[in-house]
Amino acid sequence: MTLQEKLKEYQQKRKGLLATNFYNLETLQGVLIAASRCHAPVILQLTRSSIEYMGLREAVALARRSMETFEVEGWLHLDHGDSYELVKRCLEEGFDSVMIDASNKSFTENVEITRQVVEEAQKYNANVEAELGYIAKLGQSQMVKTTNTTVSEAVEFVRQTSVNTLAIAIGSSHGFYKSEPHLNIQRLKEIHKAIETILVLHGSSGIPDEMLQEAISNGITKINLATEIKDTFMKALKQTLQDSDEIDLRKVFPNACESVVDLLIHKFRVININ
Ligand code: 13P
Repeated sequence: MTLQEKLKEYQQKRKGLLATNFYNLETLQGVLIAASRCHAPVILQLTRSSIEYMGLREAVALARRSMETFEVEGWLHLDHGDSYELVKRCLEEGFDSVMIDASNKSFTENVEITRQVVEEAQKYNANVEAELGYIAKLGQSQMVKTTNTTVSEAVEFVRQTSVNTLAIAIGSSHGFYKSEPHLNIQRLKEIHKAIETILVLHGSSGIPDEMLQEAISNGITKINLATEIKDTFMKALKQTLQDSDEIDLRKVFPNACESVVDLLIHKFRVININ
């Protein structure tokens, strides 16, 4: 099944499809072991920095072969693609889906570059995600309510770009929250009613389970998760290293990998609510 088909199916059933970032062999395996145990499909995401860290072809080969090994239905997605060139390289390497994030540019520029990416991605039958509104990135100021995505902007953006997956700003932000997060569910409902586009929640780390479920019930389909994976992995790794002077790295990583499995099993259960 293509990612577009799966997203549509999940949108209709009001279920969440988890999109997780991976950074190395261990975080990739942690995600896939959890997906396999839950019989859940998953979107595997790579950012520019992860691509630079692992190598594009190497990361793609590792992800594809690992999905086969763990018998997981999954797709490869470029997260926060920041240029047309990066998007094109990923499409050429066989990504199922690419995000072009021009949310920091003007509406007109965002429309323009998203249109170009949609046109290019069609040649590969790939899915395209764009972002509209202000979703704070790591280190940026959180919770700027005035820049939540508006309904009219969303309608116009989709009409002009034909993008089929859209990250909207409804109060979430990347990284951990400095105060209790609040999602603008009313705005989400209105946007969901106005457009058929798949809606994405970025910044899912630190959002309470019930709030995630409420977002899914009201129109979010793709749930992006990154920070909690890194945090869980590193905490477990640090603990293992503190407790032993083992130098065989093959003996210290499995515990950290297992912590990712536990986290992800919990998340799959939370978001597959229907
Ligand atoms: P978190 O790091 O807050 O989980 O957000 C992930 C994300 O939205 C990736 O695009």
